[in-house]
Amino acid sequence: MPIVFDETERVFHISGKSFSYCLRLDERGEILNLYWGAPLPRGGVGYLAESFRDGASFDLRRGRLPLEIPTRGAGWYGTPTVRAINERGDDMTCLRYVSHSITRGKPPLEGLPATYAQDDSEATTLTLTLRDDLTGLEALAEYTVFETLDAMTRSIRLTNGGSSALRLTHMLSASVPFFGGEYDLVHLNGAWARERAVKRETVGQAVLRIESQRGASGHEENPWVCLVGGDTGEFSGEAWAFSLVYSGSFLAEARVNNNGDTRVSIGLNPETCQWRLEPGASFQTPEAVLVYSTDGLNGVSHIYHTLYRTRLCRGVWRDKPRPILINNWEATYFQFNEAKILDIVTRAKAIGVELMVLDDGWFGKRDTDNCSLGDWVVDRKKLPDGVDGLARKVNEAGMLFGLWFEPEMVSPDSDLYRAHPDWCLHAEGRPRTEARRQLILDLSRPDVQDYIVESICATLQRAPIAYVKWDMNRNMTEPFSTSQSPERQFETQHRYMLGLYRVLEAITSRFPNVLFESCSGGGGRFDPGILHYMPQTWTSDDTDPVERLKIQYGTSYAYPPSSICAHVSASPNHQTGRSTSMKMRCDAALGWNFGFELDLGKLDPDDLDVTRDQVERVKELRGFFQTARFTRLQSPFDSQAISDAAWQWVSEDRRKVVLCAFQPVVRPNPAPRRVKLKGLNADNLYREQGGGRVFDGAALMYAGFVPTPAQGDADSQVYIFEAE
Ligand code: DGJ
Repeated sequence: MPIVFDETERVFHISGKSFSYCLRLDERGEILNLYWGAPLPRGGVGYLAESFRDGASFDLRRGRLPLEIPTRGAGWYGTPTVRAINERGDDMTCLRYVSHSITRGKPPLEGLPATYAQDDSEATTLTLTLRDDLTGLEALAEYTVFETLDAMTRSIRLTNGGSSALRLTHMLSASVPFFGGEYDLVHLNGAWARERAVKRETVGQAVLRIESQRGASGHEENPWVCLVGGDTGEFSGEAWAFSLVYSGSFLAEARVNNNGDTRVSIGLNPETCQWRLEPGASFQTPEAVLVYSTDGLNGVSHIYHTLYRTRLCRGVWRDKPRPILINNWEATYFQFNEAKILDIVTRAKAIGVELMVLDDGWFGKRDTDNCSLGDWVVDRKKLPDGVDGLARKVNEAGMLFGLWFEPEMVSPDSDLYRAHPDWCLHAEGRPRTEARRQLILDLSRPDVQDYIVESICATLQRAPIAYVKWDMNRNMTEPFSTSQSPERQFETQHRYMLGLYRVLEAITSRFPNVLFESCSGGGGRFDPGILHYMPQTWTSDDTDPVERLKIQYGTSYAYPPSSICAHVSASPNHQTGRSTSMKMRCDAALGWNFGFELDLGKLDPDDLDVTRDQVERVKELRGFFQTARFTRLQSPFDSQAISDAAWQWVSEDRRKVVLCAFQPVVRPNPAPRRVKLKGLNADNLYREQGGGRVFDGAALMYAGFVPTPAQGDADSQVYIFEAE
């Protein structure tokens, strides 16, 4: 069994293929975390509990314990996982063991996205029931282990079993103590157009706070962090990763305490979420997904990739290669009409593109970004035959049709806002801060949720729409709701997310065959919560391939390539002004969800040929990319501002390998560069398809392959190897 309770040692032993996680039930009924690391086939760590002692009188035993669910009081001064303030104003929550159960399968989380077991045999769940006798607060701490997929999930459900209301101020999902203090924290940091840059910082006694308070997971940080040993790299060393299945404000925290031990916590951000828990009511925390590997950062990424691709994403598109699309945004912005879109379609069809996506500007009177959000009624000046008319013409031309929406927003200049000025997030008596001339609809309100479901479904029903791009282009500034009482205002951000998830569930289940892609000014909401409803995300508004090396490389720490979208755009690039070769633009997008975002009519014949060839190559390889193992080989974040990069895909049977190597900036008189491939079969011979040369698998892995040196700036090579 992957979860057992050793009654003699009072230890719960949770084990995956390559990890053990051991919890001890101590004499006072608290749960202690004894160990998380490499597998312990027989458990046997109960003896560690004997080592926990009092320090001086200022350093009480409880404060030194490796508490699994820390709460305030009796000597604990760190960040609590659960903090409930009772009617008398005290927050000394004492959660003590009541019972436990171990069951096959994985229960869903009410109202929240989560990983799932397709079959009960895939997962086993430990539920610990803990209770605070004074207040009656009950905590159900759930641990699910996916044995084959090698990951563990955690969440806590809090129920008020007492007779008076409680104020919850901390409802984190996981907090794990680590012995010793010699660790770094890897996190994904950035901003609009440069999302998820890989940062590595030493964890010390000053708290490292990785967070969003914006009401979205954000461009700035991602709800994924990884604690690593000092000598851990991409390919080896211990790594303990935490990912939160949530799309709103979050907190991940790491620090070393005064005894030299480390703790990492992750969950809802206490700065932006508090909750009034009435008697009988429950609060469900989001799910944290914990992954351990001794194979370094690529090791944890491999586990997340398979788990998120197959047991977080859902629906008919989960396992299907995605259509090659063209999006008109960078080709036309708001200035298009039906003839222009059909011209794009004709040109795209000629090079083999399969899906035409009509972006922003098709509704209301939206010729700039200053109006009409919320009025999902077609602009007949641009599209005289409506969206349905255009969609049918696109279909007749042999392509699928997709449509952009930004359903969570409202423009002050819109019929919706004029009819319902109280439907946006705002605080009475305060200015309503506009960003991109828009406000955010109050999705904590059921009437607003219903409006969104009905208006989006009405458009989807009327036209043959195969794909939806769900955009969201600003963060919360006044996260308050007129529908809530004053003491519940700090619930608004989380209620918004619950409302959003309800809306997404309703729309995506009503249109199960539509492919949904999420977007938030590019990658401002690239998180596991959103992937549960939409299996792919627009990675960044920055389509410069040199920048994309970094953005896609960083995003791949937590997310599978099948969820990451990459489009070929114009040169010079619209975001950076940098000129790059068409070859590199195509190669940087190969292996991810491939598409175009440019006016094909402006390409010269040579570049057009490159795009045609690349479309053919994508069609040949996309089935392989969908399930192949992706590995980062050479980091674009290495020492120089712009450095070379390389990554690879290997098929499950290890017989096929695609290596992509990039040289953004040419170097004179370059020394030969070797790239060591990973995960091949050492005994196989591999033929490289371009040159026909045969290489030994072991040599490719241990001695390395030598890509052709750059022939000018923005050069790249793709090598395909097949086992003989
Ligand atoms: C932001 C998105 O990231 C872009 O791709 C585009 O859809 C614009 N919004 C449209 O307003």
